[in-house]
Amino acid sequence: MPDYAAQVLVCTNTENAEDRRHCGDKGGREVRQMFNELLVKHKLLDKVTVSNVGCTSQHKFCNGAQGNVIVYGPRHELGGTWYTASPDDVEEIITEHLVNGRIVERIRNAERSVKFS
Ligand code: FES
Repeated sequence: MPDYAAQVLVCTNTENAEDRRHCGDKGGREVRQMFNELLVKHKLLDKVTVSNVGCTSQHKFCNGAQGNVIVYGPRHELGGTWYTASPDDVEEIITEHLVNGRIVERIRNAERSVKFS
């Protein structure tokens, strides 16, 4: 069993709403695909696990190219960090957050965070 250091959850939810307000109708699926590709490029598949998640009511912050992303880890003190991210942001999340342990403040969803005690 791999010994993962971090978990990435990407909202790809789509409910076929006419206003296409959900992440899966915006950039969520493309964000997920970019994580798949770039985690291979950065040789992190054995350290970072990525999963799709359903709606967490944060799609209101996403523009037409973005999706909701939640990152747990890679260090305990980082807790869980929520991002409003486009595919173009994924490389920075990987290099800054997942590799260097620094939150990417410019795309952080300040409404949400999870702290571990
Ligand atoms: S559809 Fe992604 S947070 Fe609601």
